[in-house]
Amino acid sequence: MTVTDTLDLAVTPPPGGQILHATARATVIWGDCRDPQVIAQVPAGYGLLCTDPPYGKAYKSGRSSNFQQIAGDDGSVDWPAVLAEWVGPVGTWVRGLATKRHVYVFGYTAEQLAGPLRLGGTADLVWDKTQHGSGALDIPWGSSHERITMGVHVKQQANRAAGEGRGAARLRRGTVLRYPRPNGAAARRHSNEKPVPLMADLIESSTVRGDLVVDPCAGSGSTGVAAVLEGRRCFLVEIDRLNAEETVRRVKAAERIADQIDAA
Ligand SMILES: C[S@@+](CC[C@H](N)C(=O)[O-])C[C@H]1O[C@@H](n2cnc3c(N)ncnc32)[C@H](O)[C@@H]1O
Repeated sequence: MTVTDTLDLAVTPPPGGQILHATARATVIWGDCRDPQVIAQVPAGYGLLCTDPPYGKAYKSGRSSNFQQIAGDDGSVDWPAVLAEWVGPVGTWVRGLATKRHVYVFGYTAEQLAGPLRLGGTADLVWDKTQHGSGALDIPWGSSHERITMGVHVKQQANRAAGEGRGAARLRRGTVLRYPRPNGAAARRHSNEKPVPLMADLIESSTVRGDLVVDPCAGSGSTGVAAVLEGRRCFLVEIDRLNAEETVRRVKAAERIADQIDAA
């Protein structure tokens, strides 16, 4: 595996992935987040898992015919089980997410995530997109929100049973987060692109400057952009080569801004 700026035209990432970008602020890997060799590269004891995995609904944007179906979105992948590997296998204290640190996962319920990700306490957040999509035209409701499950990862079962990880947030907030979904140029980057201010809100709520934020399904890189702009570090993996390259482009732009802020 090498750090490279050159284009690799192969569609499938190599075993272990390929590092496209590596700085003090950000690592971007073109790779499969189910690959144990990719998982092994995430630094131990990181500070936040913040991710938006495929929803398993063969989602295709109603807004544009430009987007292909999202990789891993055909329902064949057990995403809670994959994310469990990212927080660290059972019995692992050192690897993965540090204990009592937080996870944010889009599109999946607390019931689906609490067991595999070993969550002590959870909260159901709602991203209010402020406008509805077209969705199914035969019902009178167009979806204008997405669910986000927040949870506190507590490694040891006995500690979870004792209530550890509940009420760990520093600030108490309302659970509806209102941010317009990306539009204009942003809407052409990725069919499921999340707004950077939304991701920054999640990251700010659960980390401090310098913490490492991990997103194994980075898409167009909004998690990483928000992390870098907030003075955090990020570790990103994306299986689609074009998305991974877009992530690198956006993360580099965020790094230039972060450098200017630090120098001011
Ligand atoms: C819902 S999108 C994420 C969008 C992202 N939050 C953004 O703001 O652009 C899910 C992403 O996971 C990627 N993905 C699917 N399977 C993957 C895998 N096995 N490893 C890494 N990435 C994967 C897809 O290519 C897709 O870009």
